[in-house]
Amino acid sequence: MAFDKNLYDSIIKEFTVDKEQLQMIAADFRYDLKKGLVDPDESSLRMLKSYLGLPSGKEKGEYLALDFGGTNVRVLLIRLEGEGKFEVLKKVAKPLKVEGEYDYIGADSTAEQMFDLLAELIDEAIEGNHEQKYLLGHTFSFPSEQTDLNNARLIIWTKEFATPGVEGKVVNDLLLEALHRRGINNVQPAAVINDTVAVLLSAAYKQGGTYIGSIYATGHNTCYLEPYADSADKAMILNLESGGFMKLAPNRFDVAFDESSEKPGEQRLEKMVSGRYMGELFGMALSELLKEKGKAYGFTSIDMSGMLEDESQGRTKVQAIVKEKTGHELSAEEAEQVRDLAVTVVVRSARLVTASFVGIIWQLSGEGKVQKQHIAVDGSVYEKMPFVKENIMRALSELLGEEAAQVDTVLDNGGSGLGAALAAAMSVEN
Ligand code: BGC
Repeated sequence: MAFDKNLYDSIIKEFTVDKEQLQMIAADFRYDLKKGLVDPDESSLRMLKSYLGLPSGKEKGEYLALDFGGTNVRVLLIRLEGEGKFEVLKKVAKPLKVEGEYDYIGADSTAEQMFDLLAELIDEAIEGNHEQKYLLGHTFSFPSEQTDLNNARLIIWTKEFATPGVEGKVVNDLLLEALHRRGINNVQPAAVINDTVAVLLSAAYKQGGTYIGSIYATGHNTCYLEPYADSADKAMILNLESGGFMKLAPNRFDVAFDESSEKPGEQRLEKMVSGRYMGELFGMALSELLKEKGKAYGFTSIDMSGMLEDESQGRTKVQAIVKEKTGHELSAEEAEQVRDLAVTVVVRSARLVTASFVGIIWQLSGEGKVQKQHIAVDGSVYEKMPFVKENIMRALSELLGEEAAQVDTVLDNGGSGLGAALAAAMSVEN
């Protein structure tokens, strides 16, 4: 047995981005980037200022790093030793949501509950020492408007976060209040940065030639070092909030999924590419093939990885995953088709992400040649999802031709913590 051929082929087509479309998306991304520099209201990219350039490499000292960007929050005590060297002295972590116990990211929680958990974790990292002074760098991975390095106001929650009382607020004010409620007066928040900025700082601390930083995980976003070549302004990292890029052609699954999401109409690119959403899109398409349109099966990106990894004859792992999530027994032929569908969703994701990278590269190189460079990327989708890295390389070649040899992507694992510590150190240098 196989699925209805016409339906199957049309679904695959809807998730396919050909070379021509890819080129158009990269060009549109570049256009929005250029527009965003002069007239942000005309661009779908937020282009948020970080108030930071790249690290000098000389940063030293001990700093606290708070990494808050998803359900699992981490606090690290990091010793920077200069020239790319550092040591993690302490690391603690806690989830903001434990099924059946508590949920501080849902609509029924409060900002106090959320930030009290952060303060508790910081207390654990400093082992209850309320005397020694610490500077803290905060990687806060949501779109925030900054007026300086330490003042960031959350514009809007993404990644399906819904805690009331945080949007529109200065996040480090909420953090400081929570620290004071707990009697912690010796920890000074000194910098707030986006996780993309953290990845770029961390990668640039370790090696030169890196101007673009990206997260490809539950959420997706990219930042880059804007040289402000034609003005007297100092180079500054801009957080593009590229997950909000709008000039894309969403298919009917993207549209339907968006309508059911926490923030309809927002984060078009992110909802087409990131780990939080790929499994759901795949599940929606599969529900049509299984003639159960509209049924939500709860596929995650881990399931997608599992199916993509399945090299077996008859795709037995695919069969097992689909059975577990949907109750359906697939034939070997259907399992093959389901795996191809999963591959198509993932390949689309990698191609769209690459188009955004190339938009930035074109903007940076202007009329000149593409500079030799690394793009620093962190995140589970980039690191672990099969087919992603090779499809990024393939799409780079399609878009840049021979000049693709100038560019590579490098994994910067754990950059969020190191980047926060660097930002705290740079707050003193600045
Ligand atoms: C947020 C970004 C963040 C990205 C990766 C997105 O949902 O809007 O600020 O960088 O996720 O964590």
